[in-house]
Amino acid sequence: MKIAVVGSGYVGLVAGACFADSGTEVVCVDVDEAKLEKLRRGEVPFFEPGLAAMVQRNWPDRLSFSSNLEESISGRQAVFIAVGTPPNEDGSADLRYVLKVAEDVARLAKHRLVLVLKSTVPVGTNAKVRAVVEKFATHPIAVVSNPEFLKEGDAINDFAKPDRIVIGTDDEDAFETLRRLYAPFNRQRDRLQRMSPESAEIVKYASNAMLATKISFMNEVARLCDAAGGDVEDVRIAVGSDRRIGFQFLYPGLGFGGSCFPKDTRALVQTGQEFGVEMGVVAAAISANRQPVLDMVKHL
Ligand SMILES: NC(=O)c1ccc[n+]([C@@H]2O[C@H](COP(=O)([O-])OP(=O)(O)OC[C@H]3O[C@@H](n4cnc5c(N)ncnc54)[C@H](O)[C@@H]3O)[C@@H](O)[C@H]2O)c1
Repeated sequence: MKIAVVGSGYVGLVAGACFADSGTEVVCVDVDEAKLEKLRRGEVPFFEPGLAAMVQRNWPDRLSFSSNLEESISGRQAVFIAVGTPPNEDGSADLRYVLKVAEDVARLAKHRLVLVLKSTVPVGTNAKVRAVVEKFATHPIAVVSNPEFLKEGDAINDFAKPDRIVIGTDDEDAFETLRRLYAPFNRQRDRLQRMSPESAEIVKYASNAMLATKISFMNEVARLCDAAGGDVEDVRIAVGSDRRIGFQFLYPGLGFGGSCFPKDTRALVQTGQEFGVEMGVVAAAISANRQPVLDMVKHL
């Protein structure tokens, strides 16, 4: 199969390299020429274990890099959108890069293809992209939501051995294209979870918000331990021993950070507001996340 991945940042590059390594012919597209030049020399612009070696062993046979979108999507069965969705001032996701790529692909496509939303986007974005496609495309384009769950630092492992592969579409052919594409990562057991685009979009934010909430909750418990004389380490082990709860994301610390949790939790609260649904638990997790740093400053 031949695909293009538009946006060669963390997610796009990992996805592109992993698909290429599994036998797919991939072109990674970006607007940043300097980044593409580095990649053609086998240099990855961020640290991710194993990624540079994977890029080097697949370039140029199965993995190439280009800034020419028209050439890159020509003859490709699927085009992934993996550009950034940074926060607007109010916390909502800025969709301008996603919608721009969707419009460009729609205008330039000269054959039927599947447009895959890999970027993290709020519920309703698939419908917005479909509207853009309907306006500009001259050939049939199916829009599929396929959120990414990799974490930085273990991205290749997460991509190649995912807990689940979420595919939001009601188009049979598009689903079949993605099923074939993901087949190398789906051998041990069936990890494909097919659902509506709306559900797929919500899964990504709900997952990150659930993990962030676990962190904030445990930090509150740690504060109670401090105040009341408990030992949070004993509490953590005993609470985590309940298999319904588990040990992951139960470490007390400075709160959640990184490139996704803060922006995705805020975006989920914002999406709730748009739909008239108060996301009170997530809002509390965000608010509680400020406390550990304030506490640390007090101790300095
Ligand atoms: N980084 C993570 O751990 C992670 C995990 C899961 C999901 N996500 C989501 O995936 C998306 C991408 O995140 P990222 O961390 O890879 O972002 P990134 O900033 O590392 O990469 C985005 C890339 O897109 C390029 N780009 C922007 N506009 C373009 C255009 N019109 N054409 C071609 N390329 C263009 C940029 O130059 C950049 O290289 C975001 O929605 C993010 O929330 C990120």
